[in-house]
Amino acid sequence: MLHLRQVIRLGKNQSNRESPCRQKQAAYGELSGDKPWASGLPRHNLEGIRLHAMKAEIGFAESVLVTGAAGFMGSHIAEYCRKLGMKVVGLDNLSGGFRENLPPGIEFIEGSVLDHALLERLFREHKFTYVYHLAAYAAEGLSHFIRRYNYQVNLLGSMNLINESVKNDVKCFVFTSSIAVYGANQTPMTEDLTPMPEDPYGISKYAVELDLKAAHRMFGLPYIIFRPHNVYGEKQNIADRYRNVVGIFMNQVMQGQPMAIFGDGTQTRAFSHIDDVAPIIATAPLVEKAYNETFNIGADKPYSVNELAQEIANSFGVPLDVRFLPPRSEVQHAFCAHKKVSKFFEIPPPINLSHGIQRMTNWARERGSTTPIIFRNIEVRKNLPPSWDI
Ligand SMILES: NC(=O)c1ccc[n+]([C@@H]2O[C@H](COP(=O)([O-])OP(=O)(O)OC[C@H]3O[C@@H](n4cnc5c(N)ncnc54)[C@H](O)[C@@H]3O)[C@@H](O)[C@H]2O)c1
Repeated sequence: MLHLRQVIRLGKNQSNRESPCRQKQAAYGELSGDKPWASGLPRHNLEGIRLHAMKAEIGFAESVLVTGAAGFMGSHIAEYCRKLGMKVVGLDNLSGGFRENLPPGIEFIEGSVLDHALLERLFREHKFTYVYHLAAYAAEGLSHFIRRYNYQVNLLGSMNLINESVKNDVKCFVFTSSIAVYGANQTPMTEDLTPMPEDPYGISKYAVELDLKAAHRMFGLPYIIFRPHNVYGEKQNIADRYRNVVGIFMNQVMQGQPMAIFGDGTQTRAFSHIDDVAPIIATAPLVEKAYNETFNIGADKPYSVNELAQEIANSFGVPLDVRFLPPRSEVQHAFCAHKKVSKFFEIPPPINLSHGIQRMTNWARERGSTTPIIFRNIEVRKNLPPSWDI
């Protein structure tokens, strides 16, 4: 692992004539490879990263669990953890993820966070230092109609992991919550607001946040909570017709269909590229002062869904073609402040929407379009948007 050795050398060689700033840049560059987040690793983490790399080099790499590792965000986070020299075990039941997303060099276990016997065995065998919990079914709009499934996976699955983390003295439990915890009419969303989630998905995320705080008070389990929003990018599931508007639009364009917009398209979201989010989450447990804190994370600038559709048409080089559907129950404007996260981590300049969309478009073209997957086990059909009632 050349990049890690160079980071170690950087720490050991005090006579290095390069400026500290250049040293840092070099270290970030080596860790980032050809990624555009060359300066994206949080500056506060450099010491932790260096120590971490030294441990990895002499065979003391920390063993970490990434749940949802075959999914979109989990696969990127697992990849960054590998780059940091961690031994990564990825767990995923492939209900929404794909084997081809798995980064090289990780041990993959196909299984569910609901299988507590499996979790018991994994925690006992691997003695995880950190747990990154990303496995979920994150279809926020659909969660009203699949309440039981939502709470089983997103809430009970999380409890199984928290139990094992407590029993096995995990050093930090990193949880990807969501800005869905804030609910409506709370913009800009800041971490000090009292969450008022409005749908089962947001309620399950907030319940897990509260449970982590209780587990910390009772057992001292350290945690870091991230509340990302509207993350998009390469490896996203573009076959899920209930979530990931960027992926849905791209799939529709590639199939020659109009982009289907709920309502009039004036609802706004701050779309965030995965490379603005994943490296911060991966390195977070190396920053002890971030322990037991909650952070919004993602892009600042909101765009309307109409503007997003235009960007996607531009990046595919096709005329804008949209179809407006009846509105569904959703928050009209969702954007949040990121002042707090920037106090703990160095946040790289954000990847702007056009650039991020172009990168994802290139990936999506290569991947090709796909038949949208229908969720078969709808529990409540009442008020289900007609376009979902198939
Ligand atoms: N993408 C976003 O915009 C966004 C925003 C806020 C929060 N989040 C959260 O980040 C996490 C990752 O989201 P994503 O967009 O990468 O979703 P994703 O669907 O791509 O990844 C989730 C993964 O979890 C796996 N999974 C589902 N149920 C499981 C189970 N019972 N056992 C094991 N694995 C299971 C799926 O197969 C999938 O690979 C989720 O917790 C989500 O709630 C995502």
